Amino acid sequence: MSSIIEDLIARKIFNNRGEETIEVDVITTAGFGRAAAPAGKSRGKAEVVNYPTGGVEQAIKKIDDLIAPELAGLNADFQEEIDNTLHEIDGTTDFKNIGGNTAFAVSLANAEAAANSHGLLLFQFLGGNVANSLPYPLGNCISGGQHARGKAPDIQEYLALPHGAETFLEAQTANTLIHKKIGDSLKKKSTTFNGGKSDEGAWIANIDTVDAFEVIAKACEEVGNELDFECGFGLDVAASSLWKPKEEIYFYGNEDKKRDTAEQLEFMLELIDKYHLAYVEDPFHEDDFESFAELTRKAKNCLICGDDLFTTNTERLNNGIKINAGNAIIVKVNQIGTLTDAAETIETAQRNGYQPVVSHRSGDTCDWHIAHLAVAYRCPVIKTGVVEGARIAKLNELIRIEHFLGDRARMADLKIR
Ligand code: PGA
Ligand code: ZN
Repeated sequence: MSSIIEDLIARKIFNNRGEETIEVDVITTAGFGRAAAPAGKSRGKAEVVNYPTGGVEQAIKKIDDLIAPELAGLNADFQEEIDNTLHEIDGTTDFKNIGGNTAFAVSLANAEAAANSHGLLLFQFLGGNVANSLPYPLGNCISGGQHARGKAPDIQEYLALPHGAETFLEAQTANTLIHKKIGDSLKKKSTTFNGGKSDEGAWIANIDTVDAFEVIAKACEEVGNELDFECGFGLDVAASSLWKPKEEIYFYGNEDKKRDTAEQLEFMLELIDKYHLAYVEDPFHEDDFESFAELTRKAKNCLICGDDLFTTNTERLNNGIKINAGNAIIVKVNQIGTLTDAAETIETAQRNGYQPVVSHRSGDTCDWHIAHLAVAYRCPVIKTGVVEGARIAKLNELIRIEHFLGDRARMADLKIR
């Protein structure tokens, strides 16, 4: 079977926010692959540049004029060669010229085209016969911070993590029940609640930061009892968006409360202890590796995860590894550009005992590739919402993969420590 690239076709489509994004088709002599780029709202400073000046239209032109002619004739099976070529064409360290989202869409569409050329699903092509473990779904149930409009908790995401489930289908069932229960109790709790949801399909309600904990804790406990397995939960604080560098404080606007770094650390430890949090993402701003390390030392039975801190970047991850800052890392391929770069980051994480959490972005499409990446690279957790079209596309793909694997399927080895 031959996977020689014949052509690339790029087009403008829209994400779930109605923003323009890029979609790329890669056509080989024996197959076809398609991928579309997601978009972040609370982006890390160290992420690659999304698009060249001129946006999606300019990105399409770069593909037509530069990338397609260069890739035509190459073998799509050799992902690293394709991704290196994208770096060479761009010529910068942050994909300023062609755009990280352009690189992302070409890179993922290429991987899909290679898999398809061999008659394989993407997770099989990338992960081989040993890829049989399903990630636990980490699902956003209550939105706040930059993901909400109007009054809402200051913490960006309250996330269910049903880590006692024995199958992916059970785990996703738990998340849907937790999400629904939370909607019901928000209706009782807040007279202004009208069922509004964020881009990620999580509820938006005018409740305070601490009330939101009570609501999700209760829902997780009840669903855990109903289904008879442990349903934990956690947070994405997205603390860079609370951080005021001049005053050196975290400003919780909804609570009208300021916390300096020591108080923020105390607050996080209190929350972890009180609610038995299984997961805390970005508890400090994106350059505070030291506080991440301190929290990781002091917190028990909790994943301390870096998103804006690491931006899927091996170099930044290595900085964290040196001082044990965190024990988990968010992997968003478009933070770094190509699949090869992201795979290197995952491998570095795993070699050093960090748990990789493959993630959607708040602006996303029905592209389901991250479902396959989670299985192929044995990531123990996937963060991709609970409901909403772009999330369900990925979650349902994981249900299909689990079904396809049949008796061989098992849940990933998730270590919460
Ligand atoms: P995003 O952020 O809006 O940049 O996708 C989500 C997150 O912080 O995890
Ligand atoms: Zn985050």
